[in-house]
Amino acid sequence: APKVEDAQLAIEEVPLPVPRTGEVLIKVAAAPVNPSDYGKWKKVLGPGEQWTPLPMGNEGSGVVVASGGGVLADRLVGKSVGFVNLVKQGSWSEFVTASALKAVFQLPPTLPAEDGASFYVNPYTAYAIVDTARRRGGKGFVHTGAASQLGQMLVKYCATEATDITLLNVVRREEQARILRSLGAKYVLVSAGDEWKLNLKQTVKELGLEVAFDCVAGEMTEILVDALPKGGTCYVYGRLSGEAARIAPIDLIYFSKTVEGFLVAGTGSQAWINLSKPVTALWRLNAAGKAVNAGLAGGGWASTKFDDCELDTMHARFLEMWGTSGFTDRKLRIRMPATVEPEL
Ligand SMILES: NC(=O)c1ccc[n+]([C@@H]2O[C@H](COP(=O)([O-])OP(=O)(O)OC[C@H]3O[C@@H](n4cnc5c(N)ncnc54)[C@H](OP(=O)(O)O)[C@@H]3O)[C@@H](O)[C@H]2O)c1
Repeated sequence: APKVEDAQLAIEEVPLPVPRTGEVLIKVAAAPVNPSDYGKWKKVLGPGEQWTPLPMGNEGSGVVVASGGGVLADRLVGKSVGFVNLVKQGSWSEFVTASALKAVFQLPPTLPAEDGASFYVNPYTAYAIVDTARRRGGKGFVHTGAASQLGQMLVKYCATEATDITLLNVVRREEQARILRSLGAKYVLVSAGDEWKLNLKQTVKELGLEVAFDCVAGEMTEILVDALPKGGTCYVYGRLSGEAARIAPIDLIYFSKTVEGFLVAGTGSQAWINLSKPVTALWRLNAAGKAVNAGLAGGGWASTKFDDCELDTMHARFLEMWGTSGFTDRKLRIRMPATVEPEL
């Protein structure tokens, strides 16, 4: 199977993109390296498929330096923004164009643009996970891979804002449990040793949990589904183990448990922001946006701890972190040179 170590990454110089009506030109300040970015480096080719170059980076932040015209785009000039949903471009670029309506989000004016680089993928997902757990009913949920940046956001969010939600965190190392407790986590289990599966089952029962969110997959999904009560649901939203999610058929057949996919935004019922239902999608985006913006400032629930690199040092730095279990508590962030000016 392809490995991230073998990814062929190249920096290319391309013409400055030109914003069309309704679009803006953004001078990028920074962009994170997320699991969903390097997940693409392990793509397996399907029958008849060939390698094609892929622009990298799903999200980022910067300052709008020009508008292609239109009220929405014009209003954003000079503003500090976050962006996602780029078309045929990646956020690991010095400049990008993006739709003012569909892809650009104004950041709080007091936030340095580079600190909003991870404004979307993880904070919106944390908000979406809590909202989904509330709609599903029950008191809270189990969360795996919980020392991730997203996991830390959930801990802070549940300790300060979503205090009605009981969060049971599962991590794989004791050091990670300490980090989460220092952020206000009440319940943390380390997935090691003979007793841990039993502890998980007992704690789920004591806390009255019926839902789990799993970003590890593999055997972890099976352990979670087993620990949930009759009728429980496990949402799989990541695959950090690199393995297929396992499920014991008996849990599906006799105990009415379900396993569902979960995606922050997309088309289909697994997407919290379901773009085929635009009214609900817009309403949810607005609600999440307000909560996230309020939590983005340094140390706020939606803020991220970064480890900085430059575009041409990113791959080497990434491999160092990858090889040493080094992503806990530091998200790799690419900083773009502040001195580059567009020739408009
Ligand atoms: N579906 C969606 O819409 C959506 C949206 C956002 C994020 N996600 C997913 O959410 C997850 C977290 O993202 P993030 O950016 O917050 O990650 P991150 O900050 O890079 O952190 C990854 C964490 O996972 C741990 N980890 C790695 N492999 C593991 C394994 N096999 N078992 C248990 N723990 C493991 C790492 O711990 P070590 O230090 O021990 O390696 C680290 O603490 C990712 O899977 C991402 O794809 C999904």
